[in-house]
Amino acid sequence: LTRTVSEGPLSGKKVVVTAGPTREFIDPIRFISNPSSGKMGFAMADAAQQLGGEVTVIHGPVQLPKTEGINYIGITSTADLFEEMKHHADADVIIMAAAVSDFTPADYHGQKVKKDEAKETLHLQSTQDILQWLGQHKQEAQTLIGFAMETEDLVKNARQKLKKKNLDWIIANTISAENVGFESDSNTVTVINKQSTESFAGSKKKIAQKILALIFKA
Ligand code: CTP
Ligand code: CA
Repeated sequence: LTRTVSEGPLSGKKVVVTAGPTREFIDPIRFISNPSSGKMGFAMADAAQQLGGEVTVIHGPVQLPKTEGINYIGITSTADLFEEMKHHADADVIIMAAAVSDFTPADYHGQKVKKDEAKETLHLQSTQDILQWLGQHKQEAQTLIGFAMETEDLVKNARQKLKKKNLDWIIANTISAENVGFESDSNTVTVINKQSTESFAGSKKKIAQKILALIFKA
């Protein structure tokens, strides 16, 4: 059995990437979610492997090809993802690219809600902010990287999240421009830390490589 191990700035480092949407079920056949494809997270994982990292991807429901040598773990809900991340909170690098649902139904209906009953209000409650929890429990020498999806005041809002969640870096995305965001193959991002901001446009694969090259000075 041969396996190519890349040398690079992430050699010997444990890298955990979250990707894709979460699903919050209302009843056995209905859920709240979002159109995340998982492409940006999977691209970040490939780029981390190319820099020598030992990569685990924890992903919601996605339809994407997997890369040999990367460990993939599937989850469904935000609660599942939180449980999994608690087991990976000691990683050297955490990249939180998943589009985590902010809300979950307050009550799960064990049987299909029939249409005649469905006129009642759907009560929601907030989910755990996983990235904020990771920021509160950040390990010494860990690099914690978040994403931010903004439709206005991109840099200002992303900087607030960087600070509030105790992150080292945040990658700000928008969906307002043409041909970018959720399901597209290309994207425009702004990479932000306490000192700097830098923007990259292009394919998600190329952008992911540029982001990690900037962060890890590859
Ligand atoms: N995130 C998380 N847990 C949540 C919600 C978000 O870990 N329950 C993470 C996302 O994976 C992302 C970052 O937090 O890395 C920012 O997500 P975003 O939706 O942009 O920001 P929120 O903090 O959820 O605030 P809002 O949606 O109100 O802008
Ligand atoms: Ca959110």
